[in-house]
Amino acid sequence: EVIDIEGKFLIPGLIDMHVHFRDPGYTHKEDIHSGSNAALAGGFTGVLMMPNTDPPPDNATVIYYWKEKSKSIPLNILFSGCITKNRAGKELSKFYELKEAGAVAITDDGNWVADGAVFRHAMEYAAALDLLVITHAEEPTIANRGVINEGYWSTVLGLRGIPKAAENIAIYRDIEIAKMTGAKLHVAHLSTAEGVRLVAAAKKLGLKVTAEVTPHHLVLTDEALAGYDTNLKVNPPLREAEEQKALLKGLLEGVIDVIATDHAPHASYEKNVEFNDAPFGIEGLETAFPVLYTELVLKKKITLEKLLLKMTVNPAKILQLPKQGDIKKGNYANLTVIDPKLTLKVSEELLVGKSKNNPFLGRTLTGWPVMTIYQGIVAYQRILKGVQ
Ligand code: DOR
Ligand code: ZN
Ligand code: ZN
Repeated sequence: EVIDIEGKFLIPGLIDMHVHFRDPGYTHKEDIHSGSNAALAGGFTGVLMMPNTDPPPDNATVIYYWKEKSKSIPLNILFSGCITKNRAGKELSKFYELKEAGAVAITDDGNWVADGAVFRHAMEYAAALDLLVITHAEEPTIANRGVINEGYWSTVLGLRGIPKAAENIAIYRDIEIAKMTGAKLHVAHLSTAEGVRLVAAAKKLGLKVTAEVTPHHLVLTDEALAGYDTNLKVNPPLREAEEQKALLKGLLEGVIDVIATDHAPHASYEKNVEFNDAPFGIEGLETAFPVLYTELVLKKKITLEKLLLKMTVNPAKILQLPKQGDIKKGNYANLTVIDPKLTLKVSEELLVGKSKNNPFLGRTLTGWPVMTIYQGIVAYQRILKGVQ
């Protein structure tokens, strides 16, 4: 079959190493099928699912459920397990069993493992099993139940702040433990300039430390919270322009390896409450590429080549994915077609995922994925409705 893609970009399938598919336990927000549809519509052919489900994968049972439910979906769905039982930070989960079942990483995302002895033990064990440890770095006593970044806007809006120190302290400790144990540490969703500096220093020492940043932290700042929009409530919180500048610089200089969405769907009835009561989280699989293309590539802040490196090659390396396109091994290249001219307004109707807590609703974006090809199958094709 010949597909005409004149005037379009043919790129490697995007890989998102940080998604919450809410399955099992919170399937009113998303499930493996709806999350996969959102991923494919966003041009992604690979995702790493986070383990804050109910029940959580602190043993192999949920991994087996995931495997069964995802086996017929044309998307490379990768599994992570919990660091601690019930993500409670006390007892280690069954790493060997998780790895045997197919987990490629462990994380307590949403919670930082506050007990240093528990985290050290986890990192020793992970090093022995060659498991990637992903840290959600936020020291809870300093974070002090804040709801947005602590600074000018938290004062003006009268909201409790989360100091940048909460993230920085956590990253510092985790890197020191990486140094002690030799384990592979991946710092999720960096949001501070000091965090970038700490990761850069760790890399300079030759430690196996990698890091990611989200589209929302690269494009939005806490100033956007002036209207108390709960779709902008996220953890770590949106920070000031100065921090954002350091994130972009870190990305360009190679300190930050990966862009990952932290796709965190929540139902409208959960988000449409008083700011303090709303859950943290931004959904973003479908808008990630057009947001980054419109705000960074077209504005000449990053090249398309570098953007693709952060969304394909680097996450594949960190997750140790087999080389794509090795046809002798029955592995075809996963591909995405981007229409660099297509301009669409983000609306709830445009989004195929179950939840609509997207912070870019109402924005007009350019550079949408129009076709996603997984292992030789057209897994997604965008159908344009009405007059463009
Ligand atoms: O904003 C967030 N939402 N941060 C997290 O770490 C967890 C996530 C979620 O699961 O909703
Ligand atoms: Zn997190
Ligand atoms: Zn997350």
